[in-house]
Amino acid sequence: MDIAESDAVRPLAPQEFEQIRHLAYRTFGLDLKAGKEELVSARLRKLVRGGGFHTFQDYYRSIVGDRTGESLLAMIDALATNHTSFLREPDHFQFLRDQVIPGMGTRDPIELWSAACSTGEEVWTLAMVLNEALPRRRIRITASDISNKALSFAQRAVYPVERCRGVSAAWLSRYFAAEGRPPVSYQVAPALRAQAAFRRLNLIESYSWPHSFPIIFCRNVMIYFDRQTQERVIAGLSQHLEPGGYLFVGHAESLTRVSHSLEYVKPAIYRKPGKKEAKWNK
Ligand SMILES: C[S@@+](CC[C@H](N)C(=O)[O-])C[C@H]1O[C@@H](n2cnc3c(N)ncnc32)[C@H](O)[C@@H]1O
Repeated sequence: MDIAESDAVRPLAPQEFEQIRHLAYRTFGLDLKAGKEELVSARLRKLVRGGGFHTFQDYYRSIVGDRTGESLLAMIDALATNHTSFLREPDHFQFLRDQVIPGMGTRDPIELWSAACSTGEEVWTLAMVLNEALPRRRIRITASDISNKALSFAQRAVYPVERCRGVSAAWLSRYFAAEGRPPVSYQVAPALRAQAAFRRLNLIESYSWPHSFPIIFCRNVMIYFDRQTQERVIAGLSQHLEPGGYLFVGHAESLTRVSHSLEYVKPAIYRKPGKKEAKWNK
């Protein structure tokens, strides 16, 4: 029985798993460990069936042979974990408000980078925290992810009501427009949306920005990378952090075993050493 005929999710054969594993590692850094065969098979099944392929081999060959890169992007979308939420890991936002923002002096605009922003909840949380703390300052958030699908969602910025549970009623009325009565979803208000610019960016490839950032959030993506890839990604992020600038990583992503040049501030928060520019008060 081939894959298109069967409804049961068949784990990939060892060789098929190896091929997908190598491809995912090479193209977006995903470190698929042995034992994930069933998960990978389940996540790719829709694409295999939808493309009318009879075997994983055929599917794999089509991705490798697709010069447009579209099939690869679809595979990345299927394999990557996009889970996120508003105010995720709230102590980061408290630290930002209590420790980082007061040290930012009079700088204007304030530029942040949310790397691996997924469907945007992190971006809009940052925007709300900054607008609350510095209502008259210009806020510019650069948001990036490898997934076009996640980026389109983030840009549309419409969230079903269940995904807005963590947002206070005051913030919902200040920064969102309700859709439906009673609301079924909320869309981020245009004024906030205007503060973010989105770009597709693969953290394991080389990239550049026209300026460095005082604050970078890169959370819950390095957890899927091996140590070598983490080092490469941290080096890239550090390069785009200004001296005195802060890097926030996910709480599950301790950098203790990773070699890097940043100062440890507290769990999941690092700072770039060197001459702190006049723009930093402390
Ligand atoms: C679990 S989400 C994290 C979202 C958010 N930062 C948070 O902490 O809630 C991980 C995101 O990393 C993205 N991603 C995976 N590999 C990537 C890569 N090589 N470059 C950029 N983004 C990547 C995925 O598309 C996904 O949206």
